[in-house]
Amino acid sequence: MPELDSPQRQAPDALMLTGFWYRALPADRVHRNQLHKAMLLEIPLVIGRDRAGHPFALRDACPHRGMPLHCGNFDGENLECSYHGWTFDAHNGQCQLIPSLTADQNLKVDRIYAGSYPCEEQDGFVWVYIPDPGPQGAGFGMREEAPEPAPEIEKFGETFGGKYKLAYLTADMPVSIDHGIIGLMDPAHGPFVHQAWWWRSRHSIHEKQKNFEPIPNGFRMSAHTPSSNSAPYKLLRLYAAADSITTTIDFVLPNLRREIIRAGKYWFSSLTTVTPIRRNQCRIDVVAAWNIFRWLPFGPELLKFVFAKFVEQDRRTMELQAEGLQHNPHLMLIDDADRPAKWYFQLKAAHLEAKSTGGEMKHPMTGPVTLKWRS
Ligand code: FES
Ligand SMILES: [Fe+2]
Repeated sequence: MPELDSPQRQAPDALMLTGFWYRALPADRVHRNQLHKAMLLEIPLVIGRDRAGHPFALRDACPHRGMPLHCGNFDGENLECSYHGWTFDAHNGQCQLIPSLTADQNLKVDRIYAGSYPCEEQDGFVWVYIPDPGPQGAGFGMREEAPEPAPEIEKFGETFGGKYKLAYLTADMPVSIDHGIIGLMDPAHGPFVHQAWWWRSRHSIHEKQKNFEPIPNGFRMSAHTPSSNSAPYKLLRLYAAADSITTTIDFVLPNLRREIIRAGKYWFSSLTTVTPIRRNQCRIDVVAAWNIFRWLPFGPELLKFVFAKFVEQDRRTMELQAEGLQHNPHLMLIDDADRPAKWYFQLKAAHLEAKSTGGEMKHPMTGPVTLKWRS
């Protein structure tokens, strides 16, 4: 289809993609021998840590009669349902014991499973792999393993003996995953939403030109010496000559935004995710790692302050947007400012198409593209 200079209707489907890892909870909130509730893609989960500290994730509903398992007892290894005492292995969900069975009743207890999910701790978060829905049937079977480990923040270990700092921020957004994601990649809201005297005013709006290229499952904005609005970039300029700074921002399905800024031996790296919680609720988690500002007592706090400000401005905006979205308004995407959003929808459609046909995913971008906008 030719690219015309007219707005395009935005697809309102807000489908949540299965077959991917998602951030479930900040790791420092998940304590040993405690059970925590979480929700991902409308799936209720109970999350905990075993005796050795390894996290696990089970569906938060007993396969017997649906009692939430987070109400049960956990001994560091097995989880006992609070209703009839059925006991399950916390990691693979296999049933260990049904207390009501008599010695001559030979129900095969070990063929019963609570739903369980691959679970990993990575860069300060507990991640859960949500597989494609299995065939309908009674109960659960053995779980599907994840095809690859949970996504990791890129760290450039060689500098300063691999020392770096890590911090996270998290905020709930009362909008669908699609609005959360395109809100994250949308460059045009900056001058209006992210105003601050120490940052920028709406009068600083100017024309920008950025180069994008396709990468597997996503796209990359790459730049040397960014004229970027990114917060760490402004701070980095205090440490390095502007022309030695390079930055890349990748978006990769289903929900990953990686930003890497390098200035000689200094680097700042973040992995932001927008996680579908329910159809009309998502959560943004920003995790950043950096080796700069380490010696400054106020460095991390300053960075956190700047990020928290941004995330709060986005959260507040989406809260208001949710009001407007309540009655399914017609929405549009325009060029070039909304082109990344268009690519997101196209990537999602191509991914689903490839999955349903079993063929290769057809990337919506055929090569590098330069976009222009004012922000
Ligand atoms: S509902 Fe869990 S043991 Fe019966
Ligand atoms: Fe924003």
